[in-house]
Amino acid sequence: MSTTKFYVTTPIYYVNDKPHIGHAYTTILADVLARYHRLLGHPTFFLTGTDEHGLKVQQAAEKAGITPQEQADNTVVRFRDLWEKLEITNDHFIRTTDDYHKKVVQDILQDLFDRDEIYKAEYDGWYDVTSETFVTEKDLPEGQKPEDLPNVTRIKETNYFFRMSKYQDWLIQHINDNPEFIQPDFRRNETLGFLRQPLNDLCISRPKNRLNWGIDLPFDRDFVCYVWFDALINYISGIGYQQDDKTFRKWWPADYHLIGKDILTTHTVYWPTMLKAADIPLPRTVFAHGWWLSGKTKMSKSLGNVVNPMDMIDRYGVDPFRYFLIAEMSLGQDASFTEEAFVRRYNSDLANDLGNLLSRLTNMITRYCDAKIPNVSKNVLKDDAEKELWDAVQTAVEKMEASVERMRLDLGIADVLNAIRGINRYLEMKQPWTQAREEDKAPLHTTLYCAAEALRVMAALLYPVMPGKMTALREALGLSAGEPDTERLRKWGLIKAGAAANKPAALFPRIEDAIETESKTMTDENAEKKTSDKPTAAPAEKKPEGVALISFEDFMMMDLRTGKILEAGKIEGADKLLRLQVMIGSEKRQVVAGIAQHYDADQLIGKTVVVVANLKPATIRGVESHGMLLAASKGESLRLVTIDGEISSGAKVK
Ligand code: MSP
Repeated sequence: MSTTKFYVTTPIYYVNDKPHIGHAYTTILADVLARYHRLLGHPTFFLTGTDEHGLKVQQAAEKAGITPQEQADNTVVRFRDLWEKLEITNDHFIRTTDDYHKKVVQDILQDLFDRDEIYKAEYDGWYDVTSETFVTEKDLPEGQKPEDLPNVTRIKETNYFFRMSKYQDWLIQHINDNPEFIQPDFRRNETLGFLRQPLNDLCISRPKNRLNWGIDLPFDRDFVCYVWFDALINYISGIGYQQDDKTFRKWWPADYHLIGKDILTTHTVYWPTMLKAADIPLPRTVFAHGWWLSGKTKMSKSLGNVVNPMDMIDRYGVDPFRYFLIAEMSLGQDASFTEEAFVRRYNSDLANDLGNLLSRLTNMITRYCDAKIPNVSKNVLKDDAEKELWDAVQTAVEKMEASVERMRLDLGIADVLNAIRGINRYLEMKQPWTQAREEDKAPLHTTLYCAAEALRVMAALLYPVMPGKMTALREALGLSAGEPDTERLRKWGLIKAGAAANKPAALFPRIEDAIETESKTMTDENAEKKTSDKPTAAPAEKKPEGVALISFEDFMMMDLRTGKILEAGKIEGADKLLRLQVMIGSEKRQVVAGIAQHYDADQLIGKTVVVVANLKPATIRGVESHGMLLAASKGESLRLVTIDGEISSGAKVK
């Protein structure tokens, strides 16, 4: 990594309404980056907060019949609560109504005014009430006139202006000389495109008779400061500017201002020119991410399709939600949020690949090694398979570091998932359930230990994204709950032989298809309906005699899958049993079935049967069995449940 310290910021959020998925996303992204940098040993500072002045907040307060300060105080709690729930590790939370911030804003304003960087003039033109900006025709798409826009009115008033225009050439030069300043590249071109037109001076005041919820201009108390001029300054006031020089110098310039694409101009034109005028160095990178869409549609309150992060957390838990947002969005591009996509990714990455690996491994350590991490020889990495496994782990570490640097966390996560699949393949190849039957336990111990070590590093790489679940995973492997660090990513052999492993409750229980087939997203509007839509158990009068009733949820806990029988053979000394190798999707499983008196082994090969795939593994007559076949039996006869027609193995049976 090129930086030694790391200072990351999110936009500060308006307190006119409760937080939504867009706010949650940027904050989770900043948190994940901050946690990665801490993991890599970089001193890190992470700032977030709320933007509490301006027309939007004043109007929301008026609507609610409360003061703007009350509006801010009520809403800030919702942001703080959400960040706490999402396990956000910001080092400071700034509110623009905090006194220290107001003082910094006023000091900067006074200084710029004293040095004639700010002047008073009359403005006669168009003003957009929603965005609180002055509108000129050049800002609009061709052919559109300001007077045609719904929230634009003509105003004529005296105001204060910041001499932004004089920095135009300097800014273009800076952007061209520092390609990392605006990222991704196409956003840099967008700003350069904007700067091809003459840059106006920036109106930084609002007369109090029109808006009084803001910071007073120190040199003219009839005016308050324009909300953006006030808000942008949070990035320096929040780390001690003009209050604690040492702290400020330690963190500034920011390494990343993370923003949404809609606030590019304020961050890449207003902010750098303000800093230049105040003689403060510029941030290293302003990174604009895309938008979360609801399916293919823009999220908006009026469409009722805004995803509520609190509901997602309540339904699926914090870590899977964090994981989905980070793994799914390719930074810079828009991404689509649907509950279907969420469940699909959860089941494949988390329940199948990662969750199953941990449960297989801890099951075997429990069964074969008395729930203690086994001992292995020091030279274990000399063997080909183990060396290959550890090399793959180290490659995943390198790739993740590179992905963090390139802001492509989605790719880093995909690499980790690949390495996790590699650990699963290693187990398939080594077949510890077969090794367990050998006299010499060293090969079994090697397999289990190496898989656990590999998984330990994967858990560390995923820790910044899923801190809670990865802590549980560490504990299951007999490790302490403490945060992982860089050194431990590279070091072999940190799991202690003899440490107590434990079988945790399923880390990521599969989300069943009842939810998978629902295409609606969890929005405020359908959240209420959804709870009452839950499937319920069959009414009592339908109960067949002598059969215990189970709930729909009980039934859905069973994972029934199609499986193709690849091999079948007898088990010595057990004339009722057959040992089968069954392909379930991409996984080959050994299943012991009590069907030898009804089927010849050869007759079974190629049949597609139904397997209970989430049955606890069992050892039957010394042979390990990972699942059970469904069959119908009456009296002496027994026939397997098979599939009528073509369907791929691993398909869900319901
Ligand atoms: N207060 C200003 C920022 C000042 S920073 C000095 C602001 N606040 S906001 O609450 O309206 O928006 C905050 C962020 O949320 C913006 O970066 C915006 O892009 C982002 N998002 C709003 N909706 C979004 C999505 N649907 N998806 C992703 N991010 C989106 O602007």
